Amino acid sequence: MITYMNVHAALEQLRDQAAEKSIRGPRVMIAGPVDVGKSTLSRILVNYAARLERIPIFVDLDVGQGEISIPGSMGALIVQRPHDIETGYPQAIPLVYHFGHKAPGDNLSLYTKVISSLSQTINDRCSHNSNANVSGCIINTCGWIKDAGYKSLIHIASVFEVNIIIVIDQERLYTELRRDMPDFVKIIQLQKSGGVVNRTRQTRATSRDSRVRNYFYGIDKELSPHCFYVNFSEVSIYKIGAPELPASLLPLGMVMEQGETKLMPMVPSEALRYHVLSLCAGERGAEKSVYSPVSGFIVITEVDMERSRFMILSPAPAPLPGKILLDTDITFMDIK
Ligand SMILES: Nc1ncnc2c1ncn2[C@@H]1O[C@H](COP(=O)(O)OP(=O)(O)OP(=O)(O)O)[C@@H](O)[C@H]1O
Ligand SMILES: [Mg+2]
Repeated sequence: MITYMNVHAALEQLRDQAAEKSIRGPRVMIAGPVDVGKSTLSRILVNYAARLERIPIFVDLDVGQGEISIPGSMGALIVQRPHDIETGYPQAIPLVYHFGHKAPGDNLSLYTKVISSLSQTINDRCSHNSNANVSGCIINTCGWIKDAGYKSLIHIASVFEVNIIIVIDQERLYTELRRDMPDFVKIIQLQKSGGVVNRTRQTRATSRDSRVRNYFYGIDKELSPHCFYVNFSEVSIYKIGAPELPASLLPLGMVMEQGETKLMPMVPSEALRYHVLSLCAGERGAEKSVYSPVSGFIVITEVDMERSRFMILSPAPAPLPGKILLDTDITFMDIK
């Protein structure tokens, strides 16, 4: 805790300096392998700042075990009050983007593009909110730090223009980042805290499932989601990413990377049952919607092929606020 307090004190100094000069405060990326306490450290640093009446932006890019919304998404939140140990971050409207998978490697091109869009939105917000700008950002990442995972860390650092990277428990990652990052980026290495608990695959799956349940029902079952029918004709469902094809079958000049972010319309079928879908806001057209914040999530609980309609579970009553739905790999069976 003393180390964490010292890091916080150093960040506070940078915030004070930023306030004096009306410039941007510290932007911190937290990186390291799985189960080293990245999310916990992010939460501690965000909380300490919020207690001093700063309004840091917490960015969670961990699509599997993120804390802002449900798995398969990433997002950001202006934190005005500290995270509560029982209820999580206090009710504030987060900025949430669709990704659709539990791991970045499932569609790396999309992951990269969504991160770029999110960073632009945050830069934009910071330019209109001087307190948030001075308070800076704390960016939590996922534990994939090798090969393409490492490249994505570099991408995150560059688009968010981070100036501090905290590496937990990984000498090699620390050395690589020192080699590859520009000089103005300070890289700090911290030891893994002795208390960190290793989580099994099963624990992670259970925790993902309970995040979806909490989204619909609330942590204390204080929410009542709605179930209603939606006709097939009322919605357009897309999956992002074309199935992988050998290069010889691709159109001349097309690389698979473009395929990874291609929108594929989905025909309603039984296969969609139990899938969580992201609900795009507004009527901007599918292509634009993918890189804009989503307005929420629904689950398809039944597919009635005979009457061409879905039964859905939704946090808000009918009608749906938009027409475009994006499919995810996340499934949720509403069994209490
Ligand atoms: N100092 C600590 N004392 C006790 N428990 C801790 C401590 N730090 C973390 N934990 C617990 O250890 C587990 C893993 O920590 P955390 O989620 O912060 O790791 P992570 O690096 O973010 O993992 P992931 O790679 O899965 O995102 C959590 O259940 C957390 O509550
Ligand atoms: Mg984590």
